Amino acid sequence: MNVRDSEHMIAELNRKEPYELTQNLDEADLIIINTCSVREKPVAKLFSEIGVFNKHKKPGAKIGVAGCTASHLGKDIIKRAPSVDFVIGARNVSKITQVVDKKHAVEIDTDYDESTYAFGEYRTNPFKAMVNISIGCDKSCTFCIVPATRGDEISIPSDLLVQEITKAVGTGAKEIMLLGQNVNNYGRRFGAVEEKIDFTGLLRKISKIEGLERIRFTSPHPLHMDDAFLEEFASNPKICKQIHVPLQSGSTSLLKAMKRGYTKENFLDRCEKIRRLCPEATISTDIIVGFPGESEEDFEDTMDVLERVRFEQLFSFKYSPRPHTEAADFEAQIDNNIAGERLTRLQKRHTEILDEVMDAQLGKVHTVYFDELKPGGRVSGRSDDGKLVFVEGSEELLGKISDIKITKTSRGALDGVLV
Ligand code: 5AD
Ligand code: SF4
Repeated sequence: MNVRDSEHMIAELNRKEPYELTQNLDEADLIIINTCSVREKPVAKLFSEIGVFNKHKKPGAKIGVAGCTASHLGKDIIKRAPSVDFVIGARNVSKITQVVDKKHAVEIDTDYDESTYAFGEYRTNPFKAMVNISIGCDKSCTFCIVPATRGDEISIPSDLLVQEITKAVGTGAKEIMLLGQNVNNYGRRFGAVEEKIDFTGLLRKISKIEGLERIRFTSPHPLHMDDAFLEEFASNPKICKQIHVPLQSGSTSLLKAMKRGYTKENFLDRCEKIRRLCPEATISTDIIVGFPGESEEDFEDTMDVLERVRFEQLFSFKYSPRPHTEAADFEAQIDNNIAGERLTRLQKRHTEILDEVMDAQLGKVHTVYFDELKPGGRVSGRSDDGKLVFVEGSEELLGKISDIKITKTSRGALDGVLV
């Protein structure tokens, strides 16, 4: 989401005047730090980074702070670091050109109408495009700061999305990544334009776009994984067979305290259905350990779900109390060492599962879309089910979708040859 927001800001700035990206700090006239605030660590990092930029930046270069930390700290950022020129929230990226030249401007309103959420074109990778299908989040997971920073959930009208995707396909993107906090809640509420369509309907509509070969999306919410959606996921050949199903916890009582809206059994049922309808699919997840009140038994439930689903990819975090969230005020906060020990156990077991999953790829054939040139005469891409694959080759492979036989495996990536 943040990567796409950065692209949006670059596109908008370029509409105003031509900017070029640079990797050299001492060359930059404008430095924008696009921040996350889901956990506490990146927030602390922001201020140390501002210090580094201040020390090494070109005289007169501006510093802007964008993203979720900008949204929730607002003008306090400028109070604490007066060298910051402007602050622009995660919901306000379309207004970047209005703040970039205003000393100490702070734009963090989450109420403003985003019905015209259309941006200029800019892509980091010419072969694939990210497309926001909704912004904000209407859920109230008790650990999560996002609804406070990104505001209410609004879906982008489907015709606008079709236009945007058609344009991206016309300029070389065969793959798109649909983005939203809860993509499969798409269509619940629009801005100015009303229409009747849900996420499954959107997937069907987008699939008709000629030249578009691959559709990915993130993140769906387990609560909205109805049968029609899972059947579309499994049967639509343009949809890549990789699905993120954020668990958070395997304990039904903790899920209730988190206000996730599903039980351990509901979750397992959805994953079983995915495995049944689409055995080739990979399932990834997010897990939080050490949520307030988490007992050893609750944690065992999480380990049990890991064991049963055997997620191919795991993003796991120690619970971090956040402002504007209910759980920050819960009693029974968990001791940091206990949370750390649980995280280690979870990650260790997952690593074993991952090694088995990756070892099993040897000799298999994957369909890979090549999108990046790598050093040493190699090209990389993603398999349909989301694995990183390398082959020997050069530019002519870029933008091609080819069958690759896997000749070498490791935990993070696969090596293969064209078949
Ligand atoms: N502490 C730890 N992890 C969190 N996440 C969200 N809020 C918190 C928090 N307060 C995790 C969730 C979410 C992912 C993006 O970040 O697992 O799915
Ligand atoms: Fe946060 Fe929950 Fe919304 Fe995801 S669904 S962004 S975890 S509040």
